[in-house]
Amino acid sequence: MPATVIVGLQWGDEGKGKTTDFLAEQVAMAVRYQGGDNAGHTVVLGDEVFKLRLTPSGVLYPHIACIIGPGVVVNPATLIGELDMLTSRGIDTAKVRVSRNAHVIMPYHVALDRAMETRLDGEKVGTTNRGIGPTYADRASRLGLRMEDLLDETTFRHRLARVLPDKNTLLATMPGTSPFDAEPLVAQAMAWGERLRPHLADTTWLVQDALRRGDHVILEGAQGTLLDIDHGSYPYVTSSSPIAGGACTGGGIGPLQVDEVIGVMKAYTTRVGSGPYPTELTDEIGSGIAERGHEFGTVTGRPRRVGWFDAVALRFAVAVNSVSSIMLNKIDILSGIDEIQLCVAYDIDEQRVDRWPSSAEVLARARPVYERFPGWSEPINGVRTLAELPENARRYVTALEVAAGVPIVLVSVGPERTQTIERAYRPMRHRPTVATG
Ligand code: GDP
Ligand code: IMO
Ligand code: MG
Repeated sequence: MPATVIVGLQWGDEGKGKTTDFLAEQVAMAVRYQGGDNAGHTVVLGDEVFKLRLTPSGVLYPHIACIIGPGVVVNPATLIGELDMLTSRGIDTAKVRVSRNAHVIMPYHVALDRAMETRLDGEKVGTTNRGIGPTYADRASRLGLRMEDLLDETTFRHRLARVLPDKNTLLATMPGTSPFDAEPLVAQAMAWGERLRPHLADTTWLVQDALRRGDHVILEGAQGTLLDIDHGSYPYVTSSSPIAGGACTGGGIGPLQVDEVIGVMKAYTTRVGSGPYPTELTDEIGSGIAERGHEFGTVTGRPRRVGWFDAVALRFAVAVNSVSSIMLNKIDILSGIDEIQLCVAYDIDEQRVDRWPSSAEVLARARPVYERFPGWSEPINGVRTLAELPENARRYVTALEVAAGVPIVLVSVGPERTQTIERAYRPMRHRPTVATG
């Protein structure tokens, strides 16, 4: 009963959508396990571009059952919009199931997220303003509303009455906000419930039954390891657990049901929002990468910060996720750079440090120690085998693989599904090992 976890190894936007779509062909079920509509996962199929916020990226295959697990926070308006968008483009959404236990992002969560960010001013997290933090906070405080509450007006009214006065009291202290009336929220919630009723289910049993049948289940993370609430540079993180362990809690499987963890990373790094970023590039090399890589947030349209690849962070991400193999995306974006730099260690307070520091304050003092690699000039979007890659590109891939200590099994050279190099072996079929340097 194999379950495979797909996890972002950087600060999000590593190309998890492309990776999940590429690998999903072989599976029966795809599950999103955390995050909400802060995520934007892009899948490119021929000329068609799909930007998915909540639905797992396996949705484009008609045979796949798509699950939004209990660890996800759902803005029903976004979900309905996404289901309608997919339907209008000929994608069957009948098999999409949303956990009854998933928490609902209410309009007051979005208002609070925005207002709290405004109040933090120079200290802000740089959230996507989707209400993610306030919704997870209510979940932990036992004050949340769950998807199943949308199905019953009496329960919904009761639960809303427990929280709304406190939300309005808090909002009243925040400039630029207005209080929320209960009645419009109830009416809105009941309409959402009516529309989503056929999609709500106890998804944990759906996943467990699939695994018991021997079906292959893929679990797709949102965000990335370095944004993890426990393991990222707090407070510049998201409010959930993108790491592979989050697939267990948020998807409804046990650790021993995970067969393989496929890490997804780009050939460079990006970060949206605030927080320390040792390898950030503020020169024209960085702006060139941002331009060629279209590094603008899928959700907010904000320009993404861009930097060199960080192998210190990679080693941490491989460890904390128990990554078994890697898909490397966007190496095509590095074509045309004379010299590529790879951060292999940090200099912190004049000490060489090989380990990702858990403190944002320490990370802010980290100066990257770089190894330099000669670049390549030619475009590589048409390459389909490792052997056809320019020698310098192959050297760079090998250096990343040695830093990771696990094999890079797939290399992506363009956004489209077929712009992918498969090595002799494929993940989810064999588990090779790699010599560490
Ligand atoms: P996700 O959030 O991890 O799914 O990543 P995003 O979809 O937010 O951002 C990745 C972007 O890079 C998307 O626009 C993808 O279509 C694109 N992309 C993915 N892989 C490649 C690649 O190998 N080369 C290029 N040029 N673009 C890629
Ligand atoms: P995908 O799944 C990149 C970042 C925000 C901010 C921090 C907290 O597409 O990789 P939040 O709205 O979650 O409270 O914001 O996390 N962030 C992402 N960055 N990709 C994402 O998702 C992100 N989701 C949240 O920019 O720094
Ligand atoms: Mg994204």
